Amino acid sequence: ATNRTFTMLKPDAIENGHMGKIIDMIIEAGFDIKAMKYTRLTEEQAKKFYEVHAERPFYGELVEYMTSGPIVAAILEKDNAVADFRTLIGATNPAEAAEGTIRQKYAESIGRNAVHGSDSDENAEIEGNFHFSANEIF
Ligand code: CMP
Repeated sequence: ATNRTFTMLKPDAIENGHMGKIIDMIIEAGFDIKAMKYTRLTEEQAKKFYEVHAERPFYGELVEYMTSGPIVAAILEKDNAVADFRTLIGATNPAEAAEGTIRQKYAESIGRNAVHGSDSDENAEIEGNFHFSANEIF
């Protein structure tokens, strides 16, 4: 079924000049862009977004990194969007990411891994609504 996922191009991807190439890969893979913005997370937003990882040892580092520069946030639509987007981006750790995936091509490390993809339909909805209001989704 057609459904949606949520993505962020993370600060390392922007800093390293990969924004255009990554957006192109996303469009080429058949995702429709329903919403998109260039923005920078506040510390409060990053803490809230990654709340599920609050007890992890890398939480502080993750929040610091995600607020270190601008990101691109987007809602994407496609058949089987959540699973297909996770296939397109590859494993969290770029060293384990399959050939031709976004993380294999552009991620620096497990922390600075270029791109986020929602892990379920439910989280896609929550994460999309966290960044976009109804009148910003087309
Ligand atoms: P993502 O899966 O998009 O969301 C959680 C993020 O936490 C993950 O991307 C990584 O950026 C980060 N992360 C996961 N594991 C580690 C780790 N071992 N060290 C540092 N950051 C991590």
